[in-house]
Amino acid sequence: VRLTGAAMSGQRVCVSDYEEEARRILPKAVYDYYRSGADDQNTLADNVAAFNRWYLIPRVLRDVSVVDMSTSVLGHRLSMPLCVGSTAMQRMAHPAGETATARACKAVGTGMMLSSWATSSIEEVMSAMTSSPGSGGVLWMQLYIYKDRELTLSLVRRAEKAGYKALFVTVDTPYLGKRLDDVRNRFKMPPHLRMSNFSSASLSFSEDDYGNDSGLAVYVANAIEPALSWDDITWLKKHTRLPVIVKGVLNGQDAVQAVNYGVSGILVSNHGARQLDGVPGLLDVLEEVVKAVQGRCEVFMDGGVRRGTDVLKALALGAKAVFIGRPVLWGLACQGEEGVTELLELLKEELRLALALSGCRSISEVSRSLVRRADFTSRM
Ligand SMILES: Cc1cc2nc3c(=O)[nH]c(=O)nc-3n(C[C@H](O)[C@H](O)[C@H](O)COP(=O)(O)O)c2cc1C
Repeated sequence: VRLTGAAMSGQRVCVSDYEEEARRILPKAVYDYYRSGADDQNTLADNVAAFNRWYLIPRVLRDVSVVDMSTSVLGHRLSMPLCVGSTAMQRMAHPAGETATARACKAVGTGMMLSSWATSSIEEVMSAMTSSPGSGGVLWMQLYIYKDRELTLSLVRRAEKAGYKALFVTVDTPYLGKRLDDVRNRFKMPPHLRMSNFSSASLSFSEDDYGNDSGLAVYVANAIEPALSWDDITWLKKHTRLPVIVKGVLNGQDAVQAVNYGVSGILVSNHGARQLDGVPGLLDVLEEVVKAVQGRCEVFMDGGVRRGTDVLKALALGAKAVFIGRPVLWGLACQGEEGVTELLELLKEELRLALALSGCRSISEVSRSLVRRADFTSRM
């Protein structure tokens, strides 16, 4: 059972307090778009539930007066192994959108993955991060591969030129998953916003009419490449000097394939349960990928991380770092840049406490023996 209720007294003490407050603030169609998973949302629930299927087995008497949470991700030093994942259209949550998120990441010293579908441009977000105070912060670009390959490469060029440090290619979205609320709401962008990396109305998701469907599902069917294959990873690598990470791998076979195609990293992800409903919660597939990769590239995970202890469990199962999606949107909705900074600091403190209570003084002391899968069957 996760604590809630503090939000009612105006104090936010855990991620679900942020969600509760955001739900009250945001227009229904926006909240629904942010929150939803695909179909019956079984995977959406399982992403969170999977963390409860794993126990932490702490060590004691290890002098945890100082805990160092810093780590390196794709060659960059971060203040913690928790980063901000790519979520589209952040200006629906707050007028400053992605630029606020970038400033918060800089303040906290962590990394941010910018969505191709951001409502702030690649260049704007970089300049927001560069010009804000703090010494940390790194930006990576999430890339959707469009049917129009020249357009795709223009995004890559812009990210390279602006100083982004890696490309996370989303490989789980040849079509958009069916998110029922978005169909019911005929979801489209509020008229004052658009996807800022594109100029035409059709590519910037600002058409007037998408019929009876989720506007975004129509957009993807029109623009995104459904014929994507492993050869496209080779194609992309040929056209960029940035490290390429595949986002959306869920099993060992694809992980081996990814390594063979020369990726620099694998993000184990089910897209926040928004694509194929019925896939397992992330924590239950992470280890299979980690074992298959055998240290040949970095492995990350996202999906359902809502607690410092969740981060710790993922690290123990072999993730180099984890990403969060929705919690950042709730932070933005509550209080813009400050809200995201506060939320990231909260998770950082939760992680610090979880590490200390487990007897770990640094990230390198987190080992596989720290977690054990709860054996539910033996109790039935
Ligand atoms: C509102 C929303 C928008 C998203 N937009 C994108 C996107 O543009 N590109 C992408 O690769 N993933 C996108 N994702 C998936 C996230 O990158 C990430 O995999 C997921 O949110 C992690 O799960 P969590 O929200 O439970 O933390 C989106 C997720 C949400 C909730």
